[in-house]
Amino acid sequence: MRILGIESSCDECSAAVVEDGRRILSNIVLSQVDFHKPFYGVVPEIASRKHIEWIGPVVQQALSEAGVAVDDIDVVAVTFRPGLIGSLLVGLSFAKGLAWALGKPLIGVDHILAHLYAPHLEREIRYPYLGVLVSGGHTIIARVDRHDRMQVLGTTIDDACGEAFDKVAKYYGIGFPGGVAIDKLSQTGNSRAFRFPRPVLNKGEAFYDVSYSGLKTAVIHQIDQFWDGVSEKNLANIAASFQRTAVDILVDKALAAARDSDLSRIVAGGGVAANSYLRRRLASEEGLEVIFPSLALCTDNAAMVAGLGYHLFCDGAVSDFSLNAEARVPVFKRSYP
Ligand code: KG4
Ligand code: ZN
Repeated sequence: MRILGIESSCDECSAAVVEDGRRILSNIVLSQVDFHKPFYGVVPEIASRKHIEWIGPVVQQALSEAGVAVDDIDVVAVTFRPGLIGSLLVGLSFAKGLAWALGKPLIGVDHILAHLYAPHLEREIRYPYLGVLVSGGHTIIARVDRHDRMQVLGTTIDDACGEAFDKVAKYYGIGFPGGVAIDKLSQTGNSRAFRFPRPVLNKGEAFYDVSYSGLKTAVIHQIDQFWDGVSEKNLANIAASFQRTAVDILVDKALAAARDSDLSRIVAGGGVAANSYLRRRLASEEGLEVIFPSLALCTDNAAMVAGLGYHLFCDGAVSDFSLNAEARVPVFKRSYP
């Protein structure tokens, strides 16, 4: 069975053809990074306009690279939540139009579950496991029992982990996307040069929650000490110290959640899962099986959407054409009254 996946939730315009939830025939990812770089962040209006321009050619390229005629597609799977609403609407509307024209089923896919599915494209992974989903918009620690079933144990109470990387990079002019730039710069820095604060969140059911706004603000304020400019050495040291703290905050909570839930397998996903220190740190934990997707499948891509779409289709979870885009999914974000 061949699934066409479409992903446009943020600033990557992507289409993929995946066979039987596993075999990637094509995975075209067109990044808008050059258009957002001058702003050190994704500009929603620019993102949705670029998706409108690119979505048709990207889908065509995915089909031709896969060597599959459009009529040979069995199902159209598309990300419908969460994400930037304008961006989501472009992919979803395109997918609806295509599915309707072809007379093929439409499957709405949750972007968060798709990220967690990404490593399943590359190897056999048994459930249950502890899912650690870290991206620009989300930070989720969850027990995952099935491709469509997860229990959120902890989330961020403020900024997402990737957002903190992006904002720190923006203030110091390090680059965009911030995570990639900070990861690279950190290679030359001393991660113990600066001591940044770590939040202490240890209340009852919110025990596995994390917080990044305090760390982000502390790192940003550090710039005041360098009123005549930050030297290259200090910049690298700040990047490395921030990165170590941000990752340690996450890993400490993830390890506690795995231990307390009797889960000996951790599966990571999302853009921040590409972080070299996070990968090193988790891999060095003894007694744990730690699985990361390859770098290309960490960040947004349509193969993970098509892959999960296959399983949802097998479950009979076909979507209605009234399916609408949703910017937020409340369970993925903790909101305090
Ligand atoms: O999953 P993703 O492509 O898009 C969202 O769903 O948000 O994640 C993008 C995020 C950005 O915040 C980016 O800075 C971060 O992932 N990121 C990284 C690295 N590569 C991308 N963060 C830390 N280290 C990296 N190597
Ligand atoms: Zn994502």
